[in-house]
Amino acid sequence: MRILLASSEVHPYSKTGGLADMAGALAKALAREGHHVGLVTPLYTGIRERFPGLKHLDRKLSLPLGSRRVQGEVWTLDTMEGLTFYMIEQPDFYLRPSLYQKDGMDYSDNAERFVFLSKAVVDLARHLSWQPDLVHVHDWQVGLVPLFIQHEKRVTGWGNAPRTCLTIHNLSYQGVFPSALYPLTNLPWDYFTPEGVEFYKQFNCLKAGIAYANAITTVSPRYAREITTEEFGCGLDGLLRSRQASITGILNGVDYEEWNTTHNPYIRYPYSSEDFSGKTANKLALQKELDLPVDGAIPLFGSINRLVEQKGVDIQLGALEEMLSGKLQFVLLGAGATPFERGYRNLAQRYPSKVAVRFGYDQALAHRIEAACDFFLMPSRFEPCGLNQMYSLRYGTIPIVRVTGGLDDTVTDVSEDPGTADGIKFMEYSSRALAKSIRKALALYAEPAVLEHYRLNGMAVDFSWDRTAQEYTRLYQRILET
Ligand code: ADP
Ligand code: GLC
Repeated sequence: MRILLASSEVHPYSKTGGLADMAGALAKALAREGHHVGLVTPLYTGIRERFPGLKHLDRKLSLPLGSRRVQGEVWTLDTMEGLTFYMIEQPDFYLRPSLYQKDGMDYSDNAERFVFLSKAVVDLARHLSWQPDLVHVHDWQVGLVPLFIQHEKRVTGWGNAPRTCLTIHNLSYQGVFPSALYPLTNLPWDYFTPEGVEFYKQFNCLKAGIAYANAITTVSPRYAREITTEEFGCGLDGLLRSRQASITGILNGVDYEEWNTTHNPYIRYPYSSEDFSGKTANKLALQKELDLPVDGAIPLFGSINRLVEQKGVDIQLGALEEMLSGKLQFVLLGAGATPFERGYRNLAQRYPSKVAVRFGYDQALAHRIEAACDFFLMPSRFEPCGLNQMYSLRYGTIPIVRVTGGLDDTVTDVSEDPGTADGIKFMEYSSRALAKSIRKALALYAEPAVLEHYRLNGMAVDFSWDRTAQEYTRLYQRILET
C-alpha cells in the first residue's frame, strides 16, 4: 500500500509530546511491514543543521492562504527502505524557537501556519510521483486535510483521490479559531455548518477531520469509547457518536529500539530482567546528579510530563504534600505552565532532601529518570494513550496510574490479576486516592519478592510496534475496500 502520513511533530526531528514518538514510530513500522510510506511535517528550526542528509525536492509550493499566496519548499530525507520524510520549508511559519507557543501562549498565527501545512499535505498527495492510496493525518494541525481532499475531488474531478484516515491523539486540542479565519481555507462557506467545521460559531480544524475522514482512530480502545461520552467528548461527543461505526481504538506501540535498558546511549548502567543491579546503580547516579541523599534503600518516585492540567498536576502536588513526611524521594522533569512549575519549585524548596525538580525538555534525563526510579506517577485526568507508563514497564519501574484511557488498557493492577500485576491503579480523581496508591507502593517496596514479581511482569509485557502496525494495515485495507 502507498500511505502518506502527516503530523506537526515527528521524533527525532521535532517533539513536544507523545504525538512525535507515535508518528515517527508508526512511519517506521509501516515501512517495515513493506508499505511505501511518506510522512509530511514542517521543517522547524535546527532540523537542517542536525540532519545534513536532507535533499531538495523539485516541487515548489505556492498555495492560496485567504487573499494571499504563500510559497514554500519541500525537503526530503530517506532514513530506511520504503520511508521518505517530506519536510515543508516556510521560514516565516516554522523557523521559530518552539513549535506552537511562546511564553505559554499559542502563536497568534497558528491558524495560518497549520492551514498552510494541511494544504501542503494535499498538494503532495496530488502531485508526488507515487500516488498515495491513503492519507493518514494526526491531530488538529492537519485535521483539514480530509475535507480539502474531499472538496478537491468534488470540484476538480480528482478521480483517484486517496482515501483518508484521522487519528485523534488528544481531543482536548481542536484548533478552534474565530470564524473570520475560515477564509484562510479558501473553501466555500457550505462547509461552515454544525455538521461540518463550525463549532459554536467558530472554525474547528479537528472537527473537519472528524466529519470528513473516511475513518477515525484514536490511540487506545478505552479512549475510543470515552470520547463518545459527554464527560470526555470536549463538545464533539455528539458528532463522534454519529460516526461511531467509523471509529477504531488502536493502542500505540513502543519503539523498543529507543526505549530499552540494554542498548541505550542515555543509560549509564545497562540492566535487564536477569540482572537488576544496573538499575540500582542508575538510581544512585541520579540521586547524586540531582543532589538528593544517595541511598538505594529509599523508594524513588518519578514523573515526566508536559505540565498541563490533563496530567493531574494538582492531585500529584496534593498527594506529595501528604506523603513527603515519610521515607521517599520524588523527582520531576516537566515542561510547560509556569503556575504548575511554581507548585513543584515550592515543594522542592521545602523538602530539599526529598524532592528534586527540573524544568524544560530533556530527552536524556527522561531516560535516566525512567531507568532510576522505583515507581512512576501518572495520575492523569484523562489520557488518550500515554507512553511513559509503557516505557516505565519496560524499565522495571512500576507505574502508578489512574484508571482512564490508555493507562487502563496498558497496566494491570493486582485486583485485576495477581499473577500478571505490573502496576498500581486508582480510580477517583483526588489527592487522597493517589496518596493511598503511594502508600500501597511503599508497602510493595517493603516486600522485595513481590516487588520483583511486579517488575518482571512489567518488563515482559510486549507493546511492540509490529502488532500496532498490523492493526493499522488491517484498518487501511478495510478503508480501501469501502
Ligand atoms: P503526551 O503526549 O500527552 O505529552 P505521552 O505519555 O504520550 O504524553 O508522551 C509524552 C512523551 O514526551 C514521552 O516520550 C515523554 O518521555 C516525553 N516528555 C514529556 N515531557 C518531557 C520533558 N519535560 N522532557 C523530555 N521528555 C518529555
Ligand atoms: C497525546 C496524548 C497521549 C498519547 C499521545 C500519542 O499527546 O495526550 O496520551 O500517548 O498523544 O498518541
